[in-house]
Amino acid sequence: MQWDTILLEKRNGVGLITLNRPKSLNALNTQLIREMNLALDQLEQDPEIGCIVLTGSEKAFAAGADIKEMVELNFPNIYFDDFFTLADRIAQRRKPLIAAVSGYALGGGCELALMCDFIYCAENAKFALPEVTLGVLPGIGGTQRLTLAVGKAKAMEMCLTARQMGAQEAEHSGLVARVFSQQELLEQTLQAAEKIAEKSLTAVMMIKESINRAFEVSLAEGLRFERRTFHSIFATLDQKEGMWAFIEKRPAKFTNQ
Ligand code: CAA
Repeated sequence: MQWDTILLEKRNGVGLITLNRPKSLNALNTQLIREMNLALDQLEQDPEIGCIVLTGSEKAFAAGADIKEMVELNFPNIYFDDFFTLADRIAQRRKPLIAAVSGYALGGGCELALMCDFIYCAENAKFALPEVTLGVLPGIGGTQRLTLAVGKAKAMEMCLTARQMGAQEAEHSGLVARVFSQQELLEQTLQAAEKIAEKSLTAVMMIKESINRAFEVSLAEGLRFERRTFHSIFATLDQKEGMWAFIEKRPAKFTNQ
């Protein structure tokens, strides 16, 4: 498949998608969102792939939705097209997604990173939801997911003032899992992704699903979901393999069965 706006590579069970619109600082246009979803479809269907990494360039993970594409849109266009709903599919993926963010993650770029299961970033990362500056508001989940990640005070302040949050603050605020130097970011992210990809995909996907439940349902319902899911994993061969491998002091060989 020929990609115009992304690059797709596979390495040791990991799918790596690199946003590739350097002249626009990886601004998310319709084509890029479509290609990213096609690549994700491929990776989700590929039994060799256990984890997916999204990244951009050193200067920009993504500087937002494409303002030049949006400027002349009007309400009926975007209402009937259900603009950005295609982007929501990224958050609905079942295999784990890690964002490796260097440079700008602004507007839709920040929202894309927030759709991933966790974010690693470089020391030069800058996160912001500057839509208010353009006379609009975040439209790909930013008001919801940023608030869940960093709490109301910082989310309100960032969305209302368009302030950029740097890497250290993002780590202290719970927005990113870890900060690396520019040189280390991608390698460290791929290493983490490879570790995930070595595990039983069933267990990995059930963990992802269970943690995401914490944001959707009450604690009692979330605990019930986790307990039933835990019970059900004893129907897999990977549960036997993982536990016997520990007892026999050898590495587990998971088959996703
Ligand atoms: N959309 C379209 N083009 C963009 C873009 C965007 N979001 N961000 C940058 N570009 C383009 C610029 O127009 C410029 O193109 P030209 O060379 O053709 O003029 C090119 O990328 C390089 O950008 P700059 O010259 O501005 O680079 P800089 O280093 O001076 O500044 C920046 C970098 C601070 C990120 C600046 O580009 C910027 O502020 N970008 C816009 C950020 C923004 O407002 N994002 C939110 C978008 S709205 C949104 O995302 C809505 C939503 O919730 C879904």
